[in-house]
Amino acid sequence: MRTVLIVGNWKMNKTASGAAPFIRELSERLRGLPSHVELVVAPPFTALQAVRTALDPSSRLQLGAQDMFWEDQGAYTGEVSAPMLVDLGCRYVILGHSERRTLFGEQNDGIQKKIRAALKHRLHPILCIGESLQQRERGTTDDVLTQQLRESLSGFTAEALDGITVAYEPVWAIGTGTSATAEQAVAAHQTIRQVLATTISPAIADSTRILYGGSVTPDNIESLLASNQVDGALIGGACLQVDSFVTIASAASAARSIGA
Ligand code: PGA
Repeated sequence: MRTVLIVGNWKMNKTASGAAPFIRELSERLRGLPSHVELVVAPPFTALQAVRTALDPSSRLQLGAQDMFWEDQGAYTGEVSAPMLVDLGCRYVILGHSERRTLFGEQNDGIQKKIRAALKHRLHPILCIGESLQQRERGTTDDVLTQQLRESLSGFTAEALDGITVAYEPVWAIGTGTSATAEQAVAAHQTIRQVLATTISPAIADSTRILYGGSVTPDNIESLLASNQVDGALIGGACLQVDSFVTIASAASAARSIGA
């Protein structure tokens, strides 16, 4: 069975000095949570060290990053590499987020190189894919998801992709307050699993966690996780407050202990 994964993407929020007390309070509030849910926070690069220091070894939280470059080191001004993230204690890295695609011109071939570099250094990639509103209205959602997956995962063996996570994040739902319905999320997740089965392997399709992201809140997490097609959530705005992140984590824990 796939373990539920809840990831908080802080985006460009919180300074290093603000992050430390936030993490201490969050860790404390999550202490009693059953261990069948995996929890990750992805602060900005500048706060990774502060968050790592604030996490005591018994904390339920693991560390992730929001992006990285594909080379290990060298003349790449402004970039951060997989070995640098691993050295700071990161276990996960979000790759191909739609804000990176639309604001910074990221494309599937570059994302593919980043996935390769992350896997080489044993960082778990969280590959984000999703359609725009226009693409959904045109009825091309499945084609868009298929192409993003095929191009980002081309050239990998099934063994290499063991441990990858996919996040389905419809662009129109990110930061808008309008989440996909549970039915829309389940349909997209089924498409993603089907593409994984045909392009990689049925075993990878079965073992890969597929998260939903886009305006997840304490109010909609339960319905989104009602289907065991949805293996967790990638959370933006609602992870910036201790209360809402704790409520979401608790709801995820409750959903899976009763359900699948
Ligand atoms: P949101 O962001 O929860 O604020 O919509 C989700 C994301 O971008 O990962």
